[in-house]
Amino acid sequence: MKIAIHDSPNGFHPRWRAYCQEHAIPFKSVNCHASDIIAQLADCDGLMWHHSQGNPRDLIAAKAVLSALEHAGVPVFPDWRTGWHFDDKVAQKYLFEAINAPLVPSWVFLDRQSALDWVEKIDFPKVFKLRGGAGSANVRLVRNREEARRLVRQAFGRGFPNYDAWGSLKERWRRVRLGKASPVEVAKGVARLVHPPAFARVLGRERGYAYFQEFMPDNPSDTRIIVINGKAFGLKRFVREGDFRASGSGDFAYGRDEFDERCVRIAFDVTDRLGASCAAYDFVFDAAKIPLLVEISYGFVKEVYDPCSGYWTPDLTWHPGAFNPQGWMVEALLEQIEHRRGDLRSSAVSASSMQPTPSSS
Ligand SMILES: Nc1ncnc2c1ncn2[C@@H]1O[C@H](COP(=O)(O)OP(=O)(O)O)[C@@H](O)[C@H]1O
Ligand SMILES: [Mg+2]
Repeated sequence: MKIAIHDSPNGFHPRWRAYCQEHAIPFKSVNCHASDIIAQLADCDGLMWHHSQGNPRDLIAAKAVLSALEHAGVPVFPDWRTGWHFDDKVAQKYLFEAINAPLVPSWVFLDRQSALDWVEKIDFPKVFKLRGGAGSANVRLVRNREEARRLVRQAFGRGFPNYDAWGSLKERWRRVRLGKASPVEVAKGVARLVHPPAFARVLGRERGYAYFQEFMPDNPSDTRIIVINGKAFGLKRFVREGDFRASGSGDFAYGRDEFDERCVRIAFDVTDRLGASCAAYDFVFDAAKIPLLVEISYGFVKEVYDPCSGYWTPDLTWHPGAFNPQGWMVEALLEQIEHRRGDLRSSAVSASSMQPTPSSS
């Protein structure tokens, strides 16, 4: 038995390799960006690839390579149920509705007229989002009808860049002011005004749809709960000053008392219904203090969760102490590999039992 891990110094990859080394799990580093990736896997039983929305090569190849392998019966992380909707909030709206998960009321329009008709009927504010993006970069508040009309016209006209250069510059300046980033970040942000990152050039402009959500006011933070292979952990993220957006703020709380356990219960339940092996959920609360989902993602910034002081199991028992989420991901893949072997063994047995028995005459 041997697993393949994408050969990258970023994301989960180094921790996956370290976990395999510590636990004597045979692994091989492979280059998922190479044309011969499938051939590289010839002697492997599964593949792990922490593909990201910010990597232009991942954007082109990751879902295709992982789906192709899974189609052929090879266990992968993230598998299809975990990853097909990654970085696509429009896909997530359909998915959450299909499994009856408690999503913030959300609307997607695929033509300008129905979007404009809807805008005339609603009250404000609402939240407007592009389907991709992280750290709140592509999420904005729509305060009034005129703003909403303008966004709809843009969505079905010239569209939106996937990288908001001015928004990103403002965010860099905010972080420098708070002492959370070096002033070089601001210079980089200025350079980005004329030279967008490679991932944004690959994605092109977002157009042809408009995605809105009901605005949930008075949330000083959002709650992020991550479920991996039957264990859950999380953090609270506080909103930026004078802003409603928490993701990317860099301001966290970790204590067990910070959490409304209804979020943990929903996270376990939705993960079950999705059949996902790893899922991070963002929650906000409505006016009646009911937790609602805003998005799901299999990927997250690993270091941010290192200070977590414990995790829950599905009976909501709290297990205090340090833990290794990337190790849980490796274990999830090993279980899939074992499962597949079991399936292959039992189909071999049933195939042989269907062979005609030699006649005794
Ligand atoms: N419908 C909403 N009502 C109120 N706040 C929201 C809503 N949707 C998102 N937010 C806030 O905006 C932040 C970013 O939104 P999210 O959809 O999670 O985008 P991202 O992918 O950038 O994290 C969230 O962390 C939350 O604080
Ligand atoms: Mg988010």
